[in-house]
Amino acid sequence: MKVDVLLGLQWGDEGKGKVVDVLTPKYDVVARFQGGPNAGHTLEFNGEKYVLRSIPSGIFQGGKINVIGNGVVLDPLLFKQEAEALAASGHDITRQLYISKKAHLILPTHRILDAAYEAAKGAGKIGTTGKGIGPTYTDKVSRNGIRVGDLLHNFEEKYAAAKAKHEAILRALNYSYDITELEAQWLDALNYLKRFHLIDSEHIVNHLLDEGKAILAEGAQGTMLDIDFGSYPFVTSSNTICAGCCVGLGVAPRRVGEVYGIFKAYCTRVGSGPFPTELHDETGDLIGERGHEFGAVTGRKRRCGWIDLVALKYAVMINGVTQLIMMKSDVLDTFETIKACVAYKVNGEETTEFPFEINDQVEPIYVELPGWQTDLTHMLSEDEFPEEFNAYLSFLEDELGVPIKIVSVGPDRKQTIIRYTE
Ligand code: GDP
Ligand code: IMO
Ligand code: MG
Repeated sequence: MKVDVLLGLQWGDEGKGKVVDVLTPKYDVVARFQGGPNAGHTLEFNGEKYVLRSIPSGIFQGGKINVIGNGVVLDPLLFKQEAEALAASGHDITRQLYISKKAHLILPTHRILDAAYEAAKGAGKIGTTGKGIGPTYTDKVSRNGIRVGDLLHNFEEKYAAAKAKHEAILRALNYSYDITELEAQWLDALNYLKRFHLIDSEHIVNHLLDEGKAILAEGAQGTMLDIDFGSYPFVTSSNTICAGCCVGLGVAPRRVGEVYGIFKAYCTRVGSGPFPTELHDETGDLIGERGHEFGAVTGRKRRCGWIDLVALKYAVMINGVTQLIMMKSDVLDTFETIKACVAYKVNGEETTEFPFEINDQVEPIYVELPGWQTDLTHMLSEDEFPEEFNAYLSFLEDELGVPIKIVSVGPDRKQTIIRYTE
């Protein structure tokens, strides 16, 4: 069997959690391959709402194996809080969840370093989620990290050395902090983490594939936040793209099957950085209000704008997307006209290629399409779609060259329509 990958094509928060939950019944295993508690994946069903950060979104669909892969960075304290909240709501995940021994640990000082680096950047700050993601991946790459498996070997020694290094940096930055309480809780959470299956995930994942099990890999963040191909330096610190699944789980490229690319019918971004189609007007506010565009992790207001097909085409290319999934269609239900950016004007020249740098010189070129002005939220099949909505879908498919197979018309699990027409 193959690993199918579901990943965000924009700047995150496309609705990955919701769709992973919807698709999970088709799979035996759901696995996260990168990112960490910077992710906030929202699921709604039976009138309940859950936000998952480190735990894969396949956890609610009866007894499936869920894997936190080696490419993920894990904060034991945030993980404990997340797992305990799930247990309190009747979802004990201890037996279903496997954690890679090679996943790197986010230490309390990583969180402090994240804040200190942001403060040092001043106006140029990234607007990170403050979860210590960048410093943890930095330590991984500079070969100073501590991995989940280290909990079983000489942990105290490794922890003391890493903490001392971080404290020296914080002193040099003249950054004042107090981690006494955070550290005590964090150390306590390590024992909780040890209750889970800590595994050599690359072996288990490949054995499962050999046994004919179907695996869904769940991306976090989005392609435009990828460390290599996103809007650098305003990105996260991992490879959010399809290739990230190979390194973040230990699966060979030939074992990747479908690549589901997920996007909103418009576009949002949270944190700093370029966003060519951002709207600073009433229309942007209206999208934000109708879409409840506030961050699931930090509560920050998300910036809103029209769909950007230059960036989306780039994301389709980088990921080799085989199926598209369009989310939050209902948010545009009331609009008379809808705009889509089909090209950028850069220094007077038109281009459809995502440029090296996005700055104020980049001007989006739009086409206008008629809105459908119909409530989509109660629709159960594509046969009910209004003509203008079908025209929007066809337009996007023509532009992107990939079929839109799933359309989401509301936050609930049930508000998901599988399309059969090409
Ligand atoms: P993720 O990080 O990609 O999993 O996405 P988030 O959970 O951060 O953000 C998506 C938000 O949109 C969540 O609040 C979802 O409940 C909500 N949502 C998902 N699909 C739809 C949809 O089709 N319509 C509406 N109105 N909301 C949706
Ligand atoms: P999900 O999985 C949206 C953004 C932050 C910041 C940049 C770097 O829910 O889609 P980091 O803390 O990773 O160092 O922050 O990336 N960011 C996200 N934006 N959704 C996310 O995850 C994000 N994870 C990080 O806002 O701009
Ligand atoms: Mg999110």
